[in-house]
Amino acid sequence: MKDFAGRVAVVTGGASGIGLATAQRLAAEGMKIVLADVEVGALEAARDGLAADGAEVLAIPTDVARAEAIEALAQSTLDRFGAVHVVFNNAGVAVTGSLWESSLEDLEWSIDVNLWGVIHGIRTFVPILLEQGVPGHVINTASMAGVTSTAYLDVYTATKHAVVALSECLHKELESEESPVRASVVCPGLIRTRIMESERHRGSDPERDPPRPEPSAGAAFVDRFLSDGTEQGWDPSRVADAIVDGIREERFYIIPAQPELVALMDQRIDELRTRRNPGATAS
Ligand SMILES: NC(=O)c1ccc[n+]([C@@H]2O[C@H](COP(=O)([O-])OP(=O)(O)OC[C@H]3O[C@@H](n4cnc5c(N)ncnc54)[C@H](O)[C@@H]3O)[C@@H](O)[C@H]2O)c1
Repeated sequence: MKDFAGRVAVVTGGASGIGLATAQRLAAEGMKIVLADVEVGALEAARDGLAADGAEVLAIPTDVARAEAIEALAQSTLDRFGAVHVVFNNAGVAVTGSLWESSLEDLEWSIDVNLWGVIHGIRTFVPILLEQGVPGHVINTASMAGVTSTAYLDVYTATKHAVVALSECLHKELESEESPVRASVVCPGLIRTRIMESERHRGSDPERDPPRPEPSAGAAFVDRFLSDGTEQGWDPSRVADAIVDGIREERFYIIPAQPELVALMDQRIDELRTRRNPGATAS
């Protein structure tokens, strides 16, 4: 997609961090914006901020884990703007820990938001984009965690690898359909957002969201590393800029990440290529 002005973008997880920065950037390109988020207060504040900057903006409270919520989001978008051109499946939550120390509730929650959220976004919006027959773009947020593996970041890593894989499939399918719609996956490095405060979305129902036990030393270390790393991370506007460039240049892999993290991706690719065990240093 080369022309943004007057077109319509849907951004999930649009009330904060990477989603909000990208919505602001797309609005600055002249796009009409549909913000979707589960956090209603932050969503309304984000909508008001964008509108104050002169954007045409619609805010729809949405839980991306629910198929019917994404279908309602698409319908509200079409009702208000009549079309949709950019779909940014971005909402996500972070849970640290090994699989065996994580509660089933946390594992299901991560998979529901990070993976099912993207699946619902693709299943709902891609048919609409294809039907329109005009240039459009689907961007899915994975992570550097989607192209590396980190001990004690198990379920997050698994969901992000899945998002990379299904995005690659989508890219190939759109090419084989000879459609004017393109796909990208974005794998940010450490970005200054509220991702390590994902706990704020957990309910207070002790049945559905039981209190977490003390984390293992490994989980506590990774949690601290990621909290510090994101606190000192890149500004989310860097990710937003990379996404807009990626859409314009029809680039599939968008990797706004610190060089030391990119080196870990390269190391993993090398491990696969040479059948070396994960994490072992080259001899
Ligand atoms: N911050 C980083 O370092 C980093 C790195 C790589 C990938 N990511 C990914 O970027 C994406 C955006 O996260 P962020 O870093 O901007 O964090 P953030 O917490 O600032 O923003 C995430 C947004 O998603 C929303 N959200 C959470 N659950 C939702 C649900 N069920 N339905 C709808 N919205 C929901 C939150 O309310 C929040 O507004 C996530 O997918 C995250 O995994 C972040």
